[in-house]
Amino acid sequence: MAKPRKRYAVCGLSNRAIATFIRPILGATAGAAGAEDGVLGYGAGADDFSEVAELVAIVDVDQPRVGAFLSTLPDSAGSVPAYVPDDVQQMIIDCRPDVLIVATPDYAHADYIRAGLEHGLEVISEKPMTATAAQAEAVRQTVAETGGRVRVTHNLRYTPRHRRMKELIMDGAIGRVLQVGLSYHVDVRHGASYFVRWNRRRARSGGLQVHKSCHHLDLVNWLIDDLPDRVSAVGALAFYGPRGAHRPHDRDGAPVTGGALADHDPYYRQDGPGGVLPAPGGEQRSGSDVPYTVQYRVEEPMTIYDDAIDIEDHYSALIGYRSGAALLYSIDFSSPWEGYELTVTGTHGRLVTRYARDLDGNPMPGNDRIDLQPLFADPEQITVQTGGSGHDGADPAMRADLFGEPSAESGRLGLAATLDQAAYAVAAGEAIWRSAETGRTVMVDDLLA
Ligand SMILES: NC(=O)c1ccc[n+]([C@@H]2O[C@H](COP(=O)([O-])OP(=O)(O)OC[C@H]3O[C@@H](n4cnc5c(N)ncnc54)[C@H](O)[C@@H]3O)[C@@H](O)[C@H]2O)c1
Repeated sequence: MAKPRKRYAVCGLSNRAIATFIRPILGATAGAAGAEDGVLGYGAGADDFSEVAELVAIVDVDQPRVGAFLSTLPDSAGSVPAYVPDDVQQMIIDCRPDVLIVATPDYAHADYIRAGLEHGLEVISEKPMTATAAQAEAVRQTVAETGGRVRVTHNLRYTPRHRRMKELIMDGAIGRVLQVGLSYHVDVRHGASYFVRWNRRRARSGGLQVHKSCHHLDLVNWLIDDLPDRVSAVGALAFYGPRGAHRPHDRDGAPVTGGALADHDPYYRQDGPGGVLPAPGGEQRSGSDVPYTVQYRVEEPMTIYDDAIDIEDHYSALIGYRSGAALLYSIDFSSPWEGYELTVTGTHGRLVTRYARDLDGNPMPGNDRIDLQPLFADPEQITVQTGGSGHDGADPAMRADLFGEPSAESGRLGLAATLDQAAYAVAAGEAIWRSAETGRTVMVDDLLA
């Protein structure tokens, strides 16, 4: 007899949820409303888990958005019940999910994760697990009380390049890790887009240090099998916000506003009509073809220069690890290309890699290699697979683990983030903005205490 399909409820009908979870659960081609890969990188799902997984409910503050999405689905899927956040307990009673997928804006993850755990459900949460270290600690306590399980989608680990680096480090190719350098750049289109989305408010996203950098902090924590201990950082808002460096002004020195921004501002001109930014004064775009009606309202248009922006757009940090290793990390959200340079230095050698793509998301040459530089032997160039769909092939590999049995490789490399690893990725991110704000070194464990 065929095994019954696992029952999944999704909290937050986000672009990420549609592309990464809902389409694969329903079958790859289901629904016209799939957010695609591309500049915002939601990670399109081309694989099909409909034989082992079933969508039983959607919870979202935006019922018209859910209705518009369901109307794009074929018959049976289109009748999936929709609930508002206050009715999440009722949803669990009515729909009997086995697994809760949490893919709302980051600030709301903790409450859904804890509700799922308290009802004995498995939980899969989008990264970051939570928007604050205090919320992460509350989740850890709920896990301790309920004995439940939370899996957090730290997908960056799964790209072939990072799996190979982890293998090399585990095999001792560079000895004991002493230093890591990670210099990350988010391009002018992708970077600007954060400043016209919910991410631009610390209360919603924890700042980009948590929302975005949790990927990078987790990657390093996992690669070197260590946890961050202390953080010293500087950072500020320079490209976006009311005093943005490129903000156009008229002859009298007043900022250009409204539709005129589209003609006079380099970010809007670069992005162009139909790009990722909403036209100044216009409606917020969705990566999928279902509009937002609650989170973004036509009456409250956003621009990248709004006073409401309260996060930083570039920062640098020195992060000390429990073993004594150090990470020198920097990121900016206004770069002419997107990608990073990563160097891991150990007692016996060094690993160097680089990934870059242009403004249209096309990979640039040189992405397919890792350089292994042993201290006392010839250097070696290691070729890695690159260019797969869904974040360079990471999302399909992660989904195979999430919806099926974890692969042998996954077990060997520890590909799935543990609860503690997910919590420290959040806490280290929070430590970055807190250190930049206070000018002091922040002890990561103090934030989780
Ligand atoms: N792993 C990755 O590579 C990756 C990529 C993109 C986004 N993400 C994560 O996915 C999540 C969603 O991000 P997105 O940009 O796709 O979101 P989005 O802005 O596209 O959608 C958010 C959805 O949540 C709904 N919502 C808002 N508040 C809610 C609440 N309290 N309860 C229920 N629903 C609520 C909104 O109405 C909307 O439908 C975030 O946690 C983000 O960090 C991860």
